[in-house]
Amino acid sequence: MTYWTHEYLLKTWGGPMVQAEFLKDVMKPFFVPRVFSGFNLFLDEPQLLPDAVDLIARECKTKRAFIVTDEYAVRFAEKVMSPYQKRHGISFETWAKAQPDAPIDTVKDCAAQIQRFKPDLIFALGGGSAMDTAKAAWLLYEHPGVKLEILSPLVPLNLRNKAKLAAIPTTSGTGSEVSGVAVISFPDGVKLPVAGALPEFVPDFALLDPSLTVGMPPELTAGTGADALAHAIDGFMAPKSDEINQAIAKKTIEMIFKWLPRAYADGSDIMPRMKMQQAAMMAGIPLANAGSGISHALGHTVGGLFHIHHGVMVLLFIPYELQVYSKVTDRYLELCDLLGVRDPDSDEQSLSNLIEKIRDFMKSLNLPTALKETGVKLDDLEKNMDVMLAQTPTDPGFYFGWYDLNNDQFKDIFLRAFEGKLLDMQSEIWR
Ligand SMILES: [Fe+2]
Repeated sequence: MTYWTHEYLLKTWGGPMVQAEFLKDVMKPFFVPRVFSGFNLFLDEPQLLPDAVDLIARECKTKRAFIVTDEYAVRFAEKVMSPYQKRHGISFETWAKAQPDAPIDTVKDCAAQIQRFKPDLIFALGGGSAMDTAKAAWLLYEHPGVKLEILSPLVPLNLRNKAKLAAIPTTSGTGSEVSGVAVISFPDGVKLPVAGALPEFVPDFALLDPSLTVGMPPELTAGTGADALAHAIDGFMAPKSDEINQAIAKKTIEMIFKWLPRAYADGSDIMPRMKMQQAAMMAGIPLANAGSGISHALGHTVGGLFHIHHGVMVLLFIPYELQVYSKVTDRYLELCDLLGVRDPDSDEQSLSNLIEKIRDFMKSLNLPTALKETGVKLDDLEKNMDVMLAQTPTDPGFYFGWYDLNNDQFKDIFLRAFEGKLLDMQSEIWR
């Protein structure tokens, strides 16, 4: 596994600097796209006042726009293109070969197609992988010589000289529509988050139309919703998270607890779909601006090895993240207040109530709370332990969390997560 960055400075000093309280207020960049949410984002008729179509079409001076999508979401391409064609005479080309995990070969193929068509507006239509493919292909279109595998997070990308990006999510979870990162996979199985010095990958526009998420199967609704919940908790708990990010994260958690069960129960009920689409976008904001957490580092490792859904995996590790972080911060108490589970007499009891509340929620959505429920075998877990111990600390999720963990502590988490048992924070390993 390659480290997520090749920059010596970031590898050695980046973690401590991210966690340094005194640096938090030195500068607070906060990046979000222009967001439109609702049922009326793709109307063929002009409206009384300029709408999203007018605003976005204004960016398309060459009248050539490009859609990056996948074989599922391509069914929505017509709906997206129609108002731009009819109202603004924009012509389109569609590339629908995005693959899960955005393999580099597909990214290059997409970039070559964009290069031939020369659009100045790119629509990323689909789930996280389609959006990540679009971001990386956009970068290659702007700078054909760039090597994505060695791109430094310290170097500006200088995007937007040729095109702007509008993201249209068709799932509700990844938050890629508001994030400044694209996760790309390489032939050796390595997945790398690609980002630049400033979050230039943050799309110019995010268009949230709930009708594009109707009909998602319940398991996918639960899995993507689980990802959004993990993002909101990660984004709230991250050392770098400030009041702006925390405010958004808290409201998002409240929304997910309220709306995800309804979205899960009835995939055609449009209001929970809309709220979950908004919640997933909102959860992406603190994730993008404050960082993720060890839930993602642990989840990436195990999920990657055993091919388990990303959202399912990262939420499974949230209780462990909360336990580990409780050694250095009591910020989790605010989540206890939010969810009405704080014990005024005991922080320890409050934490245990919070974890129970989250796990009950997971169970109500048929999400696993133990690795053994996902089909992973203890033998396989133990066989792969060395790989997991080597890989997890190199993940950016680990880098943005609190607290450096040693191998014994990682191992303890993996083995207890297998059984679904919580950590014993009084034991020798954790003292
Ligand atoms: Fe995630």
